[in-house]
Amino acid sequence: MSAIDLLDMFQRELALCKVGPGQVMAVLTGPNSRADYAAAFVAAGQRLGAEVFRLDLPPAAQDASQTPTTAQGALWGRTPLTGHRSGVEMLKRVDMLVDLVGLLHSPEQVEIQRAGARVLMVVEPPEILARMFPREGNRERVEAGGRRLARAKQLRITNRAGTDLTYQLGQYSKTPILQYGYTDQPGRWDHFPGAFVYTWPNEGQSNGTIVLAPGDIIFPFKDFVRSEIRVNVVDGWIKSIEGGFDAEHLRHFMASWNDPDAYAMAHIGWGLDKMGLWNSLSLFNKESYIGQDGRAFYGNVLWSTGPNTDVGGSRTTPAHLDIAMKGASLFLDGEPMVLDGEVIPEDMRA
Ligand SMILES: [Fe+2]
Repeated sequence: MSAIDLLDMFQRELALCKVGPGQVMAVLTGPNSRADYAAAFVAAGQRLGAEVFRLDLPPAAQDASQTPTTAQGALWGRTPLTGHRSGVEMLKRVDMLVDLVGLLHSPEQVEIQRAGARVLMVVEPPEILARMFPREGNRERVEAGGRRLARAKQLRITNRAGTDLTYQLGQYSKTPILQYGYTDQPGRWDHFPGAFVYTWPNEGQSNGTIVLAPGDIIFPFKDFVRSEIRVNVVDGWIKSIEGGFDAEHLRHFMASWNDPDAYAMAHIGWGLDKMGLWNSLSLFNKESYIGQDGRAFYGNVLWSTGPNTDVGGSRTTPAHLDIAMKGASLFLDGEPMVLDGEVIPEDMRA
């Protein structure tokens, strides 16, 4: 994508975020941020009349030997802003933060949001940003899903391979996480691009079995499941992971964190993005993207493990799986939101 097209795209994105005169916008970068994105976001913010600055941070002082991986999208909550008090204080004073570092699941991001800044994370390469650019109607459909989540008491997922797991809701679900690819409200986080909706279940109240089937996707592996994996969940915690090679691979990765909190059941929801491609992960270098296609594709069922600080919980583990199930079903209080990979309620259909 040319520099002019990138600038134009970011200007349209920031216009959706209502960046304009009288606003202060920061672009946060670290050692792994794209220089072309930083330059284009700064210029786009200026074009829209905002007062813009870039904050570039060095790598956080942390012992890399303490975590099994620092691969793109595999280590969460530990960022160049970790322990960087002056940086946090500066960013709490802006109206809009463009996050090119990936602050998601970090206590620093929560603190910045609570101060009123809206936060937009951007990682994906230009072709994914362009293809999945927020479309008319995405926000309304995601918000329709959020309203249903907010009043639900129970969420059940199934698939043809034998999944049957029930999450109890209520502790965190009054404020579901909505992602539609831009943010125009104070204190609200979003990730450009992608349309999907999710919540966190009650602590200790998820029970059942998930059977992952070929074609499901495990992040951060950014790879398809190719043989069945049986995940047994008791009172909110994964108790066993069984199967062939894929199960052994997953079990080994989970154990490598040496952290009991890695096994906690975390966010659960479904994808609503017609432009998200189930199989785009076959087309990209793994270090070049984060996986919004796989997380958001229309009609997926997305569950996860690990941290819950986003909704006020206390688990800060950097170990975080996102697992997208294809062709699965998700029910709220018995009513299907997704049935065999098809979105059912009229107000959420694209
Ligand atoms: Fe996640």
